[in-house]
Amino acid sequence: MLAQVPWRWVITIQRSTKLKEQLDSGLPYQTLDITTEAKDRFIKRVKAFLPEQFATESVIQFCGPSGADAVEAAIKLAKQTTGRNTMFAFRGAYHGMTNGTMGMMGNLGTKARRTGLMSDVHFMPFPYSLRCPFGLGGDAGAKQSIRYIERLLNDDEAGIMKPAAIIVEPVQGEGGVIPAPAFWLKELRRICDEHEILLILDEIQCGVGKTGYRFAFEEAGISQIFFVFLKRLAVVCQCRSLYSTKRSIHGMLANIRAHSAVTN
Ligand SMILES: Cc1ncc(COP(=O)(O)O)c(C=O)c1O
Repeated sequence: MLAQVPWRWVITIQRSTKLKEQLDSGLPYQTLDITTEAKDRFIKRVKAFLPEQFATESVIQFCGPSGADAVEAAIKLAKQTTGRNTMFAFRGAYHGMTNGTMGMMGNLGTKARRTGLMSDVHFMPFPYSLRCPFGLGGDAGAKQSIRYIERLLNDDEAGIMKPAAIIVEPVQGEGGVIPAPAFWLKELRRICDEHEILLILDEIQCGVGKTGYRFAFEEAGISQIFFVFLKRLAVVCQCRSLYSTKRSIHGMLANIRAHSAVTN
């Protein structure tokens, strides 16, 4: 009998049974900050899946049901931690459809119908061979992208304030399935460290095994402090030091450097 049932139905039925068990247990199921056994089990499973060092050094924040919620939480935390308001995103980026995440969206067709989105967002060139803004493509184009960002951050006539964070998809999804070269991500990490800028990796679309790694950023061998992944569960992972009493960016950067020493 089961052989004739589409596998999707089987999974749905199994999930429904689990859901029913949970609902019948009498435990609260929408708990935000309150720990439940199910949530505890889930966190342990997620942590077991994360790169080991990041798992030990990070805490998980449950924000809400959508990926955009997780990105919003990451933006707020970055702004709060650094005391800065500016954000850098990339051409072709997609981070969701809320006020803040749409403000960081590349696609103009969608944005054109909304006004007053989150301000103070600046778009940097993403390494994209086919439509390289420098007319170079390949590694040469990617290197120019890094050069452009670094030059801009070092230029006190650039007209753009230092950002709280740079948000990037290691593989752009909606922008056209465009992977950033590993060396480019490494360089971006270095620039962020040098300028005390937080790097937010949005792996909501490209994470969890889709690139052959657990997470796309692992190919670059970079350590991470801020990480958004898991669509529908909206998980932000962030370094514990973001929650230190001082909430000091210096503490956090010391932490990144310690990681870099291990991973690079
Ligand atoms: C890279 C990326 N970030 C954020 C989001 C937003 O997730 P959600 O649609 O769950 O808000 C998406 C959705 O596709 C995405 O691809």
